[in-house]
Amino acid sequence: MNEQLISEAKRYIEGLFAGHSDGHDAEHSLRVFSNAMKIAENEAECDIEAVALAALLHDADDHKLFDTKDNENARAFLNGHGITGSKADFICQIINSVSFSRNRGRKPETIEGKIVQDADRLDAMGAIGIARTFAYGGKQGRSLEDGIKHFHEKLLLLKDELNTDPARRMAAERHRFLEEFIEHFNSEKQEL
Ligand code: NI
Repeated sequence: MNEQLISEAKRYIEGLFAGHSDGHDAEHSLRVFSNAMKIAENEAECDIEAVALAALLHDADDHKLFDTKDNENARAFLNGHGITGSKADFICQIINSVSFSRNRGRKPETIEGKIVQDADRLDAMGAIGIARTFAYGGKQGRSLEDGIKHFHEKLLLLKDELNTDPARRMAAERHRFLEEFIEHFNSEKQEL
């Protein structure tokens, strides 16, 4: 894997997400990258560089944050680093197979897509998932109760929607912590 290309991709997303602090930020993309690398280490053969770049760039054109079309931001980085044609298309195809809302019930077709999707979903679980839920909810003007609703509509379902065994192992503790958090939340609420 071209390490320099990877560090330039990290720098690119740091610039792109500058000023964002709502859970869809550069740190999220960096964690998804590191989750993806851990999954890929234990998964059958895959194009590791495509996994790395897709993980780092997976939110570069997220419609909640950017008004771009056809993976414009991701492609700008890739093309600027000599990645064009079918290789750039492949990376964008991985990116487009990741989104929870756009792909409900549909699994990515490639192992690379499965890995990056799992890596993204892991970051919506556990302590980080909880922190991101309330950070994003607060920005949207949502109440804590709305945040808890989001647990039931999305976060608690993720464990059974993962594609790869390494991700399932990484998810177990994070899922348990989500359940424990809800238990505590509900019991503290009843004390009012
Ligand atoms: Ni994401």
